[in-house]
Amino acid sequence: MSNTLQKNLDYKKFVIDSKLQYFKPHATKIEKTFSEEISSSLNRDLKFISPKFFYDKKGSDLFEKICSLPEYYPTRTEISILKKIQDELPSYIDKNFRLVELGSGTSVKTRLILDIFAKLEGTLEYFPIDISEILTESSEQLLQNYSRLHITGIIDTYEGGLEFLKTYDDKKNLILFLGSSFGNFFPNDGYEFLKKINFTMKPDDLFLIGLDLVKDRQILELAYDDSQGVTAEFNLNVLSRINDELDADFNLKNFTHHAIYNEEDQRIEMYLKSLVNQSVVISKSNLLLNLKKNELIHTEHSHKYRLPQINEILTSAGFEIKHTWLDDNKHFSLTLVSKN
Ligand code: AVJ
Repeated sequence: MSNTLQKNLDYKKFVIDSKLQYFKPHATKIEKTFSEEISSSLNRDLKFISPKFFYDKKGSDLFEKICSLPEYYPTRTEISILKKIQDELPSYIDKNFRLVELGSGTSVKTRLILDIFAKLEGTLEYFPIDISEILTESSEQLLQNYSRLHITGIIDTYEGGLEFLKTYDDKKNLILFLGSSFGNFFPNDGYEFLKKINFTMKPDDLFLIGLDLVKDRQILELAYDDSQGVTAEFNLNVLSRINDELDADFNLKNFTHHAIYNEEDQRIEMYLKSLVNQSVVISKSNLLLNLKKNELIHTEHSHKYRLPQINEILTSAGFEIKHTWLDDNKHFSLTLVSKN
């Protein structure tokens, strides 16, 4: 039996009703637990908390709030580009495409693309891929607004979900990866990730990626250190999460949010800065963390790109560029590619 076939048998199918089903892998992946990851990433000279841990319920709500802040230009700018391409994108797709999204959206962005699909005849299919079961909740909301919509959720890693899709059927996929989420990857990991996406795509599949662009330092730093302090709250919330889930005693008053643009590496770097010399117990990670005054815990990298770099990154990962769209200020980009 081939590997890929084997892989599909590894998913359990849950049928909710005629319009909503989801697939979930039988075996849970052997992944390091939250407590193990924290104990190793905080137990070293350059302390680090992975940005994937931002998104508990509170963190996800705060991120939603960030998206509508006046200083946080990426979301509204990407939306403006999506609106602008409503007339152009249809020339690249036809009624035999379905929409696939890395991350599960109910957002304006997903809807703008679904609107394009809804104008084509044929079935309206949406496949969100998300590691979190939140997928089922967000799907039900979409189904209320699109009467012809059928949703198949894949509760798995992005790579796992795309591999699943490769052998699922012959239908063509338009895969979305929006919001410059790609910017969280270190360049090399990002390159490997793109190669995996490319490998799992069928010859006629398309991939639409949203990437944030290099711009004035001031605009960038304000976007990650807003006047209402929402980004600060978002960053600090990861410590509350560790307190709650790993039995720790971080005193949030002893930390401050720090966001700075590293021009050479073209990225916003976010940190939590210790305001005092302090010790923190993280019981479930078996860790006594000692922090010096002004010591930084790194929490996120958000890379920004130049247009030639976007071309270079995508081309070297095996893609052929169909088109790149920008907003008038050239603050954000959307690039449509196919497999080369
Ligand atoms: C979700 C990773 C795209 O980097 O802009 C927003 C996360 N962090 N404000 C970004 C984030 C602080 C966001 N991404």
